[in-house]
Amino acid sequence: MDSKCLFVISFAKTKIKFALLLFICITNPIFVLKQNFTLFASYRRLKQSDIIIESDYNSMSRTAVKMFISELKAVLQKKDKAVVMLPTGGTYLSKGGFYQILTTEYRNAIDWSRVIFFNLDEYIGVSPKDKRSYNYQLMEAVLEPLGVPLENIHLFDGSILNVKEECAKREQWIKKLGGIDITLLGIGRNGHIGFNEPGSLRNSGTRVVDLSLETKYQNMEYFKDLGGGDLLSGIDSVPDQAITVGIATILSSREIFLLASGQSKAEAVKNMLNEENPLLNPASFLIINSPGVCFIFDDDAFSLFHESQLQGGPF
Ligand code: PGA
Repeated sequence: MDSKCLFVISFAKTKIKFALLLFICITNPIFVLKQNFTLFASYRRLKQSDIIIESDYNSMSRTAVKMFISELKAVLQKKDKAVVMLPTGGTYLSKGGFYQILTTEYRNAIDWSRVIFFNLDEYIGVSPKDKRSYNYQLMEAVLEPLGVPLENIHLFDGSILNVKEECAKREQWIKKLGGIDITLLGIGRNGHIGFNEPGSLRNSGTRVVDLSLETKYQNMEYFKDLGGGDLLSGIDSVPDQAITVGIATILSSREIFLLASGQSKAEAVKNMLNEENPLLNPASFLIINSPGVCFIFDDDAFSLFHESQLQGGPF
């Protein structure tokens, strides 16, 4: 059984759905247990304290950096080395955003030689020397400005020929280092986290994925130069595939921060907080399964969710 099959089931009408689920439970109970199948998952209620809302992008980013630094200091008090997983994307890289604040105001707040860095994802076929690669962007915007020693940096190489080995290497490294302490996340308009697109499974590890059309549209502005300059022709230049750490890899982090800003993320945020089926909206896995997630939004990203649904009533 693969993710596509589950995806179809989640669209089926209720009676058919129930019959199908019953059939799967009887014929393949181990599979059902392994997937934490959403029908049986125990949902935890979100608390107000899990969610921070700021008025705009800059204050959201500032609050997030402060919380990240404070968490990182706490980890470094307990351990010699901290392990951090970084995202790319406009949420973190835009002017006045998380990475700019981190590198300009907090460069000396931490001994960065004690922090090991991984990244979440990378386009396949895009070399680390290419400005569009996430590897290049993280080096340029974060890791070089912070002065992180090269031996502490483990980013995907999208140009590597043996991609399967690259994926396996990542999982082995994380294991060897004793797991991830802090993961920073954004959210895609379709609810993806990393490049875990809808249909991703709870127990997925680091792997190669096909990018959805929606994600390619979301990211085509970064590839428009290859398409001759205009935005729409960029879509054909966005790679079809990417490497991503899996849902299981993300959920194994001891602390997760998810940031979302702007109207374009409001639908995905609403679906996540409403615990929409995670096979349709992968970010919902963070609410259903994760031990420690802090959500930091700006007003626009939070605008479609009704606060009264949070435990403890409205703010
Ligand atoms: P963005 O992407 O920060 O560019 O909006 C986030 C994501 O797709 O995960």
